[in-house]
Amino acid sequence: MEIDVFTLFPQAFEWFRAQRHVAGALAHGHHLACINYRDHTPLKAGQVDDEPFGGGAGMVLRVDVVEAALRARYGTDPVDLRQQRRVIAMTPTGRVLDDAMVDELAALESLTLLSGRYEGFDQRVLDHFATEEVSIGRYVLAGGEIPAMAVCDAVFRKLPGALGDANSAVEESFSRALDGAPEYPHYTRPAEYRGWQVPEVLLSGHHARIRQWRLEQSASRAQASGHGPRASGREADGGSLP
Ligand code: ADE
Repeated sequence: MEIDVFTLFPQAFEWFRAQRHVAGALAHGHHLACINYRDHTPLKAGQVDDEPFGGGAGMVLRVDVVEAALRARYGTDPVDLRQQRRVIAMTPTGRVLDDAMVDELAALESLTLLSGRYEGFDQRVLDHFATEEVSIGRYVLAGGEIPAMAVCDAVFRKLPGALGDANSAVEESFSRALDGAPEYPHYTRPAEYRGWQVPEVLLSGHHARIRQWRLEQSASRAQASGHGPRASGREADGGSLP
């Protein structure tokens, strides 16, 4: 898979790139490129933003600057580009990212993420260049870099080669394997700490009972938190689970 991130702060992705699951995915032939809007701006002195028409606080990322960066990368009119690939603008008001969307994105061959800064994008970027807007939650961050990184992080860990144990990304919170429910609790050594005991079943070595217990825990967490379409009813043998 190839992910292109358009940003004013490509250096912010250096740390991210070195994270084990990202480095693992990249070593497996997946790609992450960062394109700096400023490198392609047609304006003087590296200008990329401007004051909002009508007045108001903050600056707006210019449509001509975004177009120039997209054209430089893809050699095509960005209006046509969105027929060929998903171009996601990171905005606080977009569709909220969830595990199902991450699965959907991880199945793509290529993906473009546009991060904004300041007050956000000129609306024409969203109307004519982006295929959609995605949010990582209903709060406003200073820029789209952390949201773009969140998308890349969640997508990369689903790709072959990213995680040491490929099953880690299969049966985890909100995944299909758990019917969208939160994952069951985990424990490790020591088995007893300050009088806090690890549930006996996990020490039993009895795989069917452990599985049953985990599914029950996941279901009751779903019920308590309201997450997941189904809070019970999964078979202990796991049905279609891996
Ligand atoms: N840009 C600023 N805040 C954001 C958010 N919550 N999600 C996506 N992009 C953003």
